[in-house]
Amino acid sequence: MPAIITLTRHIIEEQRKHPHATGEFTDLMNDVAFAAKLISYHTNKAGLMGVLGEAGTTNVQGEKVKNLDVFAHETMFKALDHGGHLCVMASEEEENAMEIPEQFPVGKYVILYDPLDGSSNIDANVSVGTIFSIYRRVSPDGRPGTLEDLLQPGHRQICAGYVVYGSSTMLVYTTGNGVHGFTLDPSYGEFVLSHPNIKTPKKGKIYSVNESNFDYWDQPLKNYISYVKQIDEASGRPLNSRYIGSMVSDFHRNLLYGGVYLYPANKQAPNGKLRLGYEANPLAFIVEQAGGRASDGKTRILDIKPKELHQRTPLFIGSETDVKMIEEFITGKKQQ
Ligand code: AHG
Ligand code: MN
Ligand code: MN
Repeated sequence: MPAIITLTRHIIEEQRKHPHATGEFTDLMNDVAFAAKLISYHTNKAGLMGVLGEAGTTNVQGEKVKNLDVFAHETMFKALDHGGHLCVMASEEEENAMEIPEQFPVGKYVILYDPLDGSSNIDANVSVGTIFSIYRRVSPDGRPGTLEDLLQPGHRQICAGYVVYGSSTMLVYTTGNGVHGFTLDPSYGEFVLSHPNIKTPKKGKIYSVNESNFDYWDQPLKNYISYVKQIDEASGRPLNSRYIGSMVSDFHRNLLYGGVYLYPANKQAPNGKLRLGYEANPLAFIVEQAGGRASDGKTRILDIKPKELHQRTPLFIGSETDVKMIEEFITGKKQQ
């Protein structure tokens, strides 16, 4: 009988390769996985809450059922606040850095997260996700973490991952030693290794972008999008267009099939829409570990030094050849 590799076992075995590992990181990841299971469970019920109308808007404690964004945000925070592994957190749903409540000890790690990515899709039963990014603190131990801990460049991440709440729930993570995917078996509630050592194709067949922004784009990007639609068998064009509008889901599909996801700057959003700390950086770490590439068109995402918590960045991420081609268009080396 083949062994079932659970997420916990996988992390323990990865940690054993590090001579100084204390097990703290394993505990932290278990807390993340627990939050993911809770969010998965509630995401699956979201439609039902709508059907149930008023009855669905109040829970047994008489509290209003919260919007799933807020639910996911609070679930992550509460799953992670007491373990003693973190010194500070940041979330898309909270403007400022979030301190560890004073009754709990602080630890050496830092986490940033997007609790629910693609939340505009939730009422239509379309896949959404959670994204997280973990660093080691840079401020002195034993005290609350600082903004400096949260504003580290992405290449300093020690772990990044995402969860897709799709037709099944999957957790994908890297600690810098390849990318590994786990599927939640709902019958016994464990994440089980289903996609070991994911590698993304060097050249993809898919491009994913919100093309309704076309008129707001700069000319180089318009040129690239025209280029991918031209017929040229030798270079595999036209590419196929796929856009869910949940970046985690678009990214996950492209990671497995090969392709590129674009959220460029545009005239209305000069730095693009997506956030560096908890959207671009974690997916950039993952894509590089899978053999792909991520840039803002000119600079490697993981080399950008963040200046603020909710900083935005243009993002081009996916198969290496395709991202390089976008960079050639954006830097003007290629026009058509
Ligand atoms: P979030 O739901 O966390 O706010 O993120 C939404 C993001 C991303 O998931 C998605 O790909 C993108 O916004 C879609 O934006 P457009 O509707 O502008 O295409
Ligand atoms: Mn998001
Ligand atoms: Mn979100």
